[in-house]
Amino acid sequence: MNENIIAIDGPAGSGKSSVAREIAQRSTYQYFDSGAYYRAVTLYFMKRHEELGGKGKFYDFLNHYEFLNKLNSIQLSATLQKKSENLIFLGQEDVTIEIRHPEVTGNIKYLAPYREVRDFINANLIELARVNRLIMDGRDIGTEVFPDAKFKFFLTADAKIRARRRWDELKEQGIDTDYEKLLEEIQKRDESDQNRKIAPLKQAEDAFLIDTSNLSKNVVINMILSRI
Ligand code: DC
Repeated sequence: MNENIIAIDGPAGSGKSSVAREIAQRSTYQYFDSGAYYRAVTLYFMKRHEELGGKGKFYDFLNHYEFLNKLNSIQLSATLQKKSENLIFLGQEDVTIEIRHPEVTGNIKYLAPYREVRDFINANLIELARVNRLIMDGRDIGTEVFPDAKFKFFLTADAKIRARRRWDELKEQGIDTDYEKLLEEIQKRDESDQNRKIAPLKQAEDAFLIDTSNLSKNVVINMILSRI
């Protein structure tokens, strides 16, 4: 049993990142969002596409570029911080902000299903965990990356409530979006996260399930803290 990992899995907008962030503040664990590495790997190839002229659809470029053979040239790293956002790097370049761009979010689905991509990212996540005690959120942290984690939670919530939370979050960052569009995006993402053949989003058998639809953030945090 690995006591140095708290795994928090669940769909987009289930509240896992804000809950995990705050638990990190109140404990000796450092927060890490595994989605950041999926975003960084996607951004890496988007940059190569751009450098090579940016012609055609990103999806077509990927196949043509034989991206799976290039994974090992990606240098992923992170600086974990308690008081502010973790910094994510591609080589020496700080991509913390860029990886959150909606275009990156939309392109992850072309890479995330590949076993090679997941193995590459998992190796990087395991490396981070070698030197840090982590509360990590994602889709497959308790099932695939750290099946031996002592503490596993699966957070879920109604899709409409998750879309509303995303809308509020973006609003707070000064970004105005269309709620219906967000809901549709969330439903599409659920669909691709749950139905991919490799490492789909699903609750680990030994994970504790929390439906956060009608729970405040504080209640969820306390439920988790009381178990760890
Ligand atoms: O958590 P996030 O929204 O930043 O994640 C972005 C995408 O990355 C998500 O739609 C699916 C993928 N992802 C994944 O496949 N496995 C993880 N452990 C984390 C993220």
